[in-house]
Amino acid sequence: MVKQHDWVAWHAAYDRPGSSLSRRLEVVREQVRRALDDLPARLPGAAPHTLVSLCAGDGRDVLPVLAEHPRRDDVRVLLVELDGALVAAAREAVDALGLTRVEVRGTDAGPVDTYLDHLPADVLLVCGVFGNVPPDDVRRTVDALPGMLADDGVVLWTRGRGGDGNEQAQVIRRRCVRAGLTEVSFTAPDDARFRVGVHRRPAGTVDAAPPAPGTRLFAFA
Ligand SMILES: C[S@@+](CC[C@H](N)C(=O)[O-])C[C@H]1O[C@@H](n2cnc3c(N)ncnc32)[C@H](O)[C@@H]1O
Repeated sequence: MVKQHDWVAWHAAYDRPGSSLSRRLEVVREQVRRALDDLPARLPGAAPHTLVSLCAGDGRDVLPVLAEHPRRDDVRVLLVELDGALVAAAREAVDALGLTRVEVRGTDAGPVDTYLDHLPADVLLVCGVFGNVPPDDVRRTVDALPGMLADDGVVLWTRGRGGDGNEQAQVIRRRCVRAGLTEVSFTAPDDARFRVGVHRRPAGTVDAAPPAPGTRLFAFA
């Protein structure tokens, strides 16, 4: 039998100071912080803002930032993650941080039905996904992003540079813009392999609805 990828072991690189993954974490956290800073004030009676993280791992890119942010109780958060141990770790962190508006859903994030109830999102994280799914799935997911975001909503995504220098992140950047998103930032240190993109759905300019129920955007290869 083929061994499944050990995603718990993958997370261990976060704890190695100076590792590409630990540096990426700082960038993603900073972008999450900025996205929360930029949320418009919520009018009384209006629906809560939403943050959704697909393939969320143990949630360490979102949860500590949210816990320290003034909007922490103003945002409805959904983390979708398949690995049971990581789901348990994320739930433990949610409890430890006293976050009351965070749901950790232990399920497959490939079919949109598993998180459609939280769309459109004001903040969407697709981190650690595009390097692990086939090119057709990357294209399908990027093309669906405008419909998954609220007006002025942002998507944070990551992609590693291949060992051969192959920069698939550039393909994703171009595709995001072709889909109707505008680039907010792109972080690509020369001395690290991680890339972090942030794209926004500009209010009123994109005519895109959330993906239809039953749609599967990706499956890990
Ligand atoms: C590269 S890690 C990224 C984790 C996290 N987003 C981060 O950047 O720290 C990929 C994650 O996707 C999860 N995963 C794999 N297939 C999945 C699926 N179909 N649905 C939800 N999560 C999945 C893995 O368990 C793993 O935690």
